Amino acid sequence: MSPPTPIRLGVAGLGYWGPNLARNFDDLADLRWLCDVSESTRARFATRYPQAALTGEFAEMLADPDLDAVVVATPVPTHFALARQALEAGKHVLVEKPPALRADEAEELCALAEDRDLVLLPGHLLLYHPGVKKLKQLVDAGELGEVLCLYGNRQNLGKIRRDENALWSLGVHDLSVILYLVDEKPSEVVAHGNAFLTEGVEDVVFCYLRFPSGKIAHMHLSWLDPHKMRRITVVGRDKMVVFDDMELERKVTIYEKAPEQPAESYGEWRTRTGDIFSPKIPNDEPLRLECEHFLGLVRGEGDRFRAARDGLAVVRTLEQLQESLVAVSA
Ligand SMILES: NC(=O)c1ccc[n+]([C@@H]2O[C@H](COP(=O)([O-])OP(=O)(O)OC[C@H]3O[C@@H](n4cnc5c(N)ncnc54)[C@H](O)[C@@H]3O)[C@@H](O)[C@H]2O)c1
Repeated sequence: MSPPTPIRLGVAGLGYWGPNLARNFDDLADLRWLCDVSESTRARFATRYPQAALTGEFAEMLADPDLDAVVVATPVPTHFALARQALEAGKHVLVEKPPALRADEAEELCALAEDRDLVLLPGHLLLYHPGVKKLKQLVDAGELGEVLCLYGNRQNLGKIRRDENALWSLGVHDLSVILYLVDEKPSEVVAHGNAFLTEGVEDVVFCYLRFPSGKIAHMHLSWLDPHKMRRITVVGRDKMVVFDDMELERKVTIYEKAPEQPAESYGEWRTRTGDIFSPKIPNDEPLRLECEHFLGLVRGEGDRFRAARDGLAVVRTLEQLQESLVAVSA
């Protein structure tokens, strides 16, 4: 049997992140087009990918009838319009997170993709991290017992942004993981924060989420912090687990710690402390896994629309948190 024809693909946005996508898709697919509005940026890629056509016009790339799919790695405010244009042109789309800045726009993209039977994959990179996959496995297998609460810490000093607040810039990562682990939509969300450096752009945001099952979650998001933290903690009734992306080797640590009520304690709560161990986590590049997942979906493997709907839930929750942030600070 002859191997399947490689998927013909174009990448738009060749700033900081787009070249990583171009590198992976050059290995995994047929990289036909590179698009960036900046001429000097385009010039840097002419020799690296000689087989790919270069353009500053997104529409020119979309007009190629042989092109199967496009990747949108342009600034966040452009995501919705470019993703919509690509879907309308009949192309499968991998769009960087978040796919849109409003839930109604994300909803429109989902509906358009479903209507045209096209893949719309928001690039929630952390969901492909083998450490996060391990968390999901532990939660779903009931290893931790009932999950009670979970929280994300995404803090550092910098990178200070002026056009996106910490909720949208940093929270999009932790929120995608929290919703993936809990697999419920929150029934209550509250965010508090403050804009210290740039008017209207919150540098520090604390979020609280409550789910219908009673689970609660928290996110501390900040670029004004002495600690560089990239951590997600899940507390179960039987065990607790921490995913720490700053760790080189011990990305996931399982703590056999829990409260208990032994018969002889007559209803008193005691704590049990057992082993602490770190399972082996594969070293696979999450972006590579994300690109492979996208190509698999385009080829018809798996649930074509699930990821877009999950991405919509992230945008909707971010929007609710943003409304709360504004209301609470007013
Ligand atoms: N998943 C991750 O971990 C991760 C990491 C970094 C960035 N990102 C995402 O990648 C996207 C790009 O971020 P970045 O840091 O590379 O930004 P960047 O500003 O470095 O690059 C954006 C590029 O897009 C180009 N561009 C702007 N409008 C365009 C248009 N209409 N058509 C074609 N090109 C256009 C710009 O000229 C620029 O070269 C953002 O959505 C960001 O959230 C994701």
